[in-house]
Amino acid sequence: MTTIGKTIDGKAFAAVLRERVAEGVADFVASQSRKPGLAVVLVGEDAASGVYVRNKGKMTVAVGMESFEYKRPASIGQEDLLDLIEELNGDPRVDGILVQLPLPAHIDEAAVIAAIDPTKDVDGFHVVNSGRLATGQKALVPCTPLGCIMLLKDELGDLSGLEAVVVGRSNIVGKPMAQLLLAENCTVTLAHSRTRDLASVVHRADIVVAAVGRAEMVKGAWIKPGATVIDVGINRVTDTEDGKARIVGDVATAEAIAHVRAITPVPGGVGPMTIAVLLRNTLVAAHARAGLPEPVGL
Ligand code: GUN
Repeated sequence: MTTIGKTIDGKAFAAVLRERVAEGVADFVASQSRKPGLAVVLVGEDAASGVYVRNKGKMTVAVGMESFEYKRPASIGQEDLLDLIEELNGDPRVDGILVQLPLPAHIDEAAVIAAIDPTKDVDGFHVVNSGRLATGQKALVPCTPLGCIMLLKDELGDLSGLEAVVVGRSNIVGKPMAQLLLAENCTVTLAHSRTRDLASVVHRADIVVAAVGRAEMVKGAWIKPGATVIDVGINRVTDTEDGKARIVGDVATAEAIAHVRAITPVPGGVGPMTIAVLLRNTLVAAHARAGLPEPVGL
């Protein structure tokens, strides 16, 4: 008998999260007489980044926050970019600063991230925040992995003692994902493109998080029956049958669906969560900067 697993509706979950953020924003405005503010810095003309930044701006305004956008040409010098970050660090209207990655090759990405005030680092990329996360202290946490944890807890409840395998070791997703799963008392394996016998490593997992950036690399037969699968991949491929461009994840979903308890679809799974969590992080940062306790229920 083949059972078909369920798909996790990240789009609906993200909409609910944005509603809760909007309520928190209204309370913040009532007590502080100002809106929380998010500044987004976009360098260059990357088309995908441009789309993300437009969506971020729209949703920031939709939850009642102030959106500040700073577009700079790809030719901007490192010092000018660092000056802009300094200006935003000192701007009292700005609670969150996000520098859209990737940056052009002549810019030192680590130096730019290091220049962001850690209390405004709503991406959670600053070493102060990644260090705090790794040592179990309160931190601003990267948006995509935090969104994945929210979906997992919604599906599974308590994650304690579960085997979790993360495939992919990026600073944006894989590494913080592993730290968050560890904080939830999972037994965590951080696998990657050089892992030997990845199939059998993945087959141990009750939770699989795929974030390698390779189209449908994780095969259905690798998944332990009843596992929950979070697919972070967004890969553009050309369909071999109709020649049309499609977006697929890092998991071969059509195969995997028969093995899983639940899986996030691509699109409509993890993707919509990232911006919703970014707005959540901005509200959390605004509370901390105003000396208020953390917003509840987020
Ligand atoms: N580029 C791709 N994902 C992200 C993200 O989460 N934050 C930033 N700043 N840039 C990105």
